Amino acid sequence: ATQRTLSLIKPDATRRNLTGKINAKFEDAGLRIVAQKRLHLTKAQAGEFYKVHAERPFYDELTTFMASGPIVAQVLEGEDAIAKNREVMGATNPADAEAGTIRAEFAESVGENSVHGSDAPETAKEEIAYFFAGLELVG
Ligand code: CMP
Repeated sequence: ATQRTLSLIKPDATRRNLTGKINAKFEDAGLRIVAQKRLHLTKAQAGEFYKVHAERPFYDELTTFMASGPIVAQVLEGEDAIAKNREVMGATNPADAEAGTIRAEFAESVGENSVHGSDAPETAKEEIAYFFAGLELVG
């Protein structure tokens, strides 16, 4: 079925001017960018977005990093968009990511791994709503 998922291009990638190359990977895989904006989160906003990880040892490092520079938030739409996006991103740790995936090509470490994507329909819905109003989604 057609799905939507929330994607973030992280500060390590915007810093290296990789937004276009990453977007090309999504579009080549048949994902449509139906909303997109560049923003610079505060640490508190990053903390709210990643609150499910609040008890993890890397939470402080993660939220400091996500507030360290601009990100690009986007909504990707397509057939099985959630799984397809995760395929195109590759494994969380770039050392485990398959060749040709975004993280294999661009990520610097498990923390600075260039992209985030929602992991399930319910989280996709919540994460899209965190960044976008309904009017901003142009399918
Ligand atoms: P993401 O898909 O954005 O969801 C949570 C993030 O936590 C994950 O990608 C990683 O970037 C980050 N993360 C996971 N494990 C570690 C770790 N051991 N050290 C730092 N960051 C991590």
